[in-house]
Order: sequence, then C-alpha cells, then structure tokens
Amino acid sequence: MIKVDLSHAKLAEDLNDYKDKVAEIHDMIHNKTGAGNDFLGWVELPTNYDKDEAARIKAKAAELSKEIDVLLVCGIGGSYLGARAAIEAINGLYPTNKVEILYIGNTFSSTYLAQIKEYVKDKEFGINVISKSGTTTETSVAFRIFKELLEETKGKEVAARRIVATTDAHKGALKTLADQEGYEEFVVPDDIGGRYSVLTAVGLFPIAMAGIDIDAMMEGAKAAQDHYNNPDLATNDAYKYGVARQILGKKYPAEMFVTYELQLSNVAEWWKQLFGESEGKEGKGILPHSAVFSTDLHSLGQFIQEGSKVLFETVLKVTKPQLDLTVPSDPDNLDNLNYLAGKTVDYVNKRACEGTIDAHVNVGGVPNIVIELDEMNAYSFGYMVYFFEKACALSVYLLGVNPFNQPGVEVYKKNMFKLLGKPGYEK
Ligand code: PA5
Repeated sequence: MIKVDLSHAKLAEDLNDYKDKVAEIHDMIHNKTGAGNDFLGWVELPTNYDKDEAARIKAKAAELSKEIDVLLVCGIGGSYLGARAAIEAINGLYPTNKVEILYIGNTFSSTYLAQIKEYVKDKEFGINVISKSGTTTETSVAFRIFKELLEETKGKEVAARRIVATTDAHKGALKTLADQEGYEEFVVPDDIGGRYSVLTAVGLFPIAMAGIDIDAMMEGAKAAQDHYNNPDLATNDAYKYGVARQILGKKYPAEMFVTYELQLSNVAEWWKQLFGESEGKEGKGILPHSAVFSTDLHSLGQFIQEGSKVLFETVLKVTKPQLDLTVPSDPDNLDNLNYLAGKTVDYVNKRACEGTIDAHVNVGGVPNIVIELDEMNAYSFGYMVYFFEKACALSVYLLGVNPFNQPGVEVYKKNMFKLLGKPGYEK
C-alpha cells in the first residue's frame, strides 16, 4: 500500500546504523515507557476503538444528512485538520450530491466568519463543535455565533438536534453545555492528543457526514497497525521514513511536503501539524513546510531549484488518480499541443513529477524522499494516517524530544487573554 523510496534521498549516513536504536524506540512506543506515554492511545486505536460509538456516529450522520445541506465543522488544530484532510483527499474539492462541509472555529478572521454566516443563514445547516478542552477561544467564539444563528432561525429544539458536540467524556465547558442542551455527544479519548485524533470521533463524525465509509477507513488503519508493528528498520517503511528525515534534518532545517494533487493540500496541513507540533520544541526540530506541484513550481520552483540549500523534499506520490481525462486532438494544432493528444492528464502529471524529482535532486542538489501510495480512498487514507503517526513518533523520539506535548502553544494565549481582559489573566 505504501512504499518509501530513498533512492533520491542522498543520505549521508547508513540507515542500518540506526537499526538498534529503532528497535529500542519501537519497544518504548509499544510498552509505553517513553516521554508522553499517557498519549499513546493512537497506537492500538484501530483495534480498540469504541465500536458502539462508531455505530452511533454512523446513525447520527445518516439521520442528520437527511435534514441538512451544510455542516459547519467548528474546531481548530487537531480538532479539524484531520477531518478536512480526509474529506478533501477522498471526495475532492468539488463533490456533488453530498452535504457541504465548511470549517469555522479555526480563526478570528471576522470577514471569514461573517461571510460564512451570510452564506448559511438561509440554508439548512448543522454544527459539529469539536474541542477536547472545551475552552479553545477560536472555537468557542465561532460556536456561540453560529449556535445563536441556528437557534434564531430554526428554534432551540431543531438546533439541539442539529448540533453535535465532540469533547472530553467528563469535563470542560463544552461538555457542561452539551449535557444541558441535550446535544448528541461523542468523545475525544483522554490518551490521544489533538494531532493524533483523526481516527477518533473528532475526525470520524465529520468524515461520515461527508458520505465517506469510516469502517473502511478504520480497516485501513488496522492493516497499517499490524504492518508497522515491526521493530525491523529494514522492512518497516514508516521507520525508514522517520529515520531518513532525521538524517537529512542534520543538514537541512526544513522539510517540504510535496503532493501533485490540489485536493491533498490539507493532507499537507495535517502533516505539518503532526510533525511541527510533535517535534518543534527545546530549540530542535525540522521546519515542516508544504507545496502542491506543479502549481507551486511556478512560484516556489525557482527557489527550490537554485536558492539557498535549506530544505529537503518529501514527495507523496499517489499512483492511481481518482478521475482522469484525455487531452483532445485538434486538427489546427495552433497551440502545438498535438504531441499530447490522446495522453491522459494524469500521464502528464506523472511525467511532471519524474522530471521535477530529477531536476531538484540531480541538478539542484535537493534530496527527495518519495512516499508512494497506491490510491486515495477511505481505506488507504486510514492506512496513510497510521503510517505518518508511527513515523512521527519514532522520528521525534529519535531526536530526543517528547512527541506528545505542546507547551509552546500556550504562550500566545496568555498574552491574548491579558489583552482581552479575561478574568484571571490581568497580570
Ligand atoms: O494538537 C493539539 O493539541 C492542538 O492542535 C489542539 O487540537 C487544538 O489546540 C484544539 O484544542 P481543543 O480540541 O482543546 O479545542
């Protein structure tokens, strides 16, 4: 399903030198003996996930999909990026005949929120508010605005039916509110952090609302769980990737995650959070960056090819496109494109990929790790998520950092709360 190709990575060290260290970290992950070990619930999640809750998720999604045209997914960071990545990667950017999924609660941009409010005010909409802490300000502000709109336009009873809350099982402001209003509730497990939570209700409910088969997604994740439960670096591709990026990270401060499909740009956003928030602490870590080619070859391409040598690329190559079309023949050939007539657009995309890897690696001196995925569907998405989660945990432990905390995220909040006059933050 996934193949890691290191033949363009120009690694300065032998991967095999890391064999013993990798086996040690593998045991640390599986025996839960490393830093952050109370956030390892994702490791066995594809086997242990709450099947009753999954059935409730599917039932609520089936019921609500009949009643609404738009679902507002209200969350930030780990509480929305995975769902958005899945929905766009699997359904594409312009799906038809589906509940439209829009994202709020991830910004204080007043223009963005006001435009969405205008857009949904006369539509049949619902809200999935997602917050593990139940107190995140971006999410709470947006939820208050759209909850009020829904109650004003549809009444409290309909609003309560159309609002679904995904939060902590026991505590937090959102839990209290959801209990009081009688919303359907789903749980963010205690032992899974935001950026590892896409395969919990955090991701599964919005993904199910988008008409995607969540059982198939969990089956894919389970296949990856079994496949990567293997301490042997020589045969574990997730670990190969995790080690290779650390070897390259010693020389290059940035990693650019590259895809060749516009609908995968939010997979890159999800990947950026996963690696950036896991690794960027104690003055360490590789800066996660991303691009969609060939689109960005017309903007960033010049820098990558000839600019300062600050990055390596990790290319996610999806072998089979979901859809394809053929370049037509034109008898006049005024655009001189007949040399492509009869070829598919994906054929052209693949040649662009091969040519770019060659240009960047062999002319530009930019190392490339290539990760090949057969195709993009619910099953393979689940598989890919687990692959990156396992690779990330290994890679960050290798760097000597706790992959599962994010102490730095609080600093801006304290300053902002002080400026906003939040009680308790005056000093
Ligand atoms: O990975 C994380 O922990 C963060 O990105 C959180 O998911 C994000 O800050 C949202 O937090 P919460 O779910 O508590 O609203």
